[in-house]
Amino acid sequence: MYLSNSENGRVYNFSAGPATLPLPVLKQIEQELISLPGVGSSILEISHRGKAFISILEETQEHLRQLLSIPTNYKILFLQGGGRLQFSMIPMNFLKGRSEEAEYLVTGTWGKLAAEQAKMQGPVNILYNGKDHNYSQLPDLASLSPNPNASYLHYTSNETIQGIQFSDDLQFGDIPMICDASSDILHRSLDIQKYGLIYACAQKNIGPAGVTLVIVREDLLDKVPNDLPCYLDYRNHAEHNSMYNTSPTFPIYVVNLVCRWLQKTFGDLESVHKFSQQKAALLYEQIDTCKGFYTGHARTSDRSLMNVVFRLPNEELTTLFLQQAADQNLTNLAGHRSVGGIRASIYNAMPLAGVQELAKFMANFYKKNS
Ligand SMILES: Cc1ncc(COP(=O)(O)O)c(C=O)c1O
Repeated sequence: MYLSNSENGRVYNFSAGPATLPLPVLKQIEQELISLPGVGSSILEISHRGKAFISILEETQEHLRQLLSIPTNYKILFLQGGGRLQFSMIPMNFLKGRSEEAEYLVTGTWGKLAAEQAKMQGPVNILYNGKDHNYSQLPDLASLSPNPNASYLHYTSNETIQGIQFSDDLQFGDIPMICDASSDILHRSLDIQKYGLIYACAQKNIGPAGVTLVIVREDLLDKVPNDLPCYLDYRNHAEHNSMYNTSPTFPIYVVNLVCRWLQKTFGDLESVHKFSQQKAALLYEQIDTCKGFYTGHARTSDRSLMNVVFRLPNEELTTLFLQQAADQNLTNLAGHRSVGGIRASIYNAMPLAGVQELAKFMANFYKKNS
């Protein structure tokens, strides 16, 4: 049904994650899968403690350090268990046994789930809850007054399901800021020094499922309790340079290729950001032009550059939209079941041509059905 007449037989896949990967990366994986150059074995067959893999791991860390300008007092870890394990590991390491609460900004589904897990480990204050307007708006930052002694403040930089995104790094005095950047890491540069810890599961913007990137300021590790199960203690992963247990070797190898591709294609994250803005603008322009027919979920000022979420006037038109889009090789556009409508995920690997095709389709669909 999704057959493409494009050169590679590929559709434009707007999945929220696992999401589309850059074609040059997929081609390189294909080329190297049987035998990694200079190694003679597949990346799937070599030890995580061998020279070949360690050099891949270190190259990946180096790329990330350069792209994000990560200072030397931050560790770069590659863990398993996805974004969701971080929801628990963070409060286990930085909240458990403490009297000072952790502050949580609940801006959408992911922030809510993170806060629920934290409550199992220690005191949590929900500093902001966007539930009343169905998570369509970010908080007015000036109106927030977190406890200056809070153990940390957790927020989600981009709510993947609702399509709302902070466009800047947050900072509240000296409170360690912890950010779930699962669906927007590497789409713009960050001021890393403002963060205590940033984490991102890979399967949206930086690679395949199976690895989660954690960037953590070293001094925070001094406060970790001593009674955590070994895998759940960040210190073990930091001490063993992400080789405490068998590292997710293949996903790390792919993250490395994605970083190389980013550097080669864009040079730096400023250019990636411009590219993201350019793509998102094409879709929001359609939503604004066809007002009343397409209705964006996010308040205009809080719109995500990564996940464009909107509704059509009724279910019939939504189904027709999805069907006709798929017929034109524009796939995986159904919104998350909790929000409905349409969600177009346009991470770094989504080509401009894919977004142009979708914008054209939206304009034509509006003309025919409004
Ligand atoms: C912002 C955000 N945080 C966390 C998660 C959960 O990640 P995982 O499924 O890897 O646990 C997701 C997506 O699935 C997400 O979009």
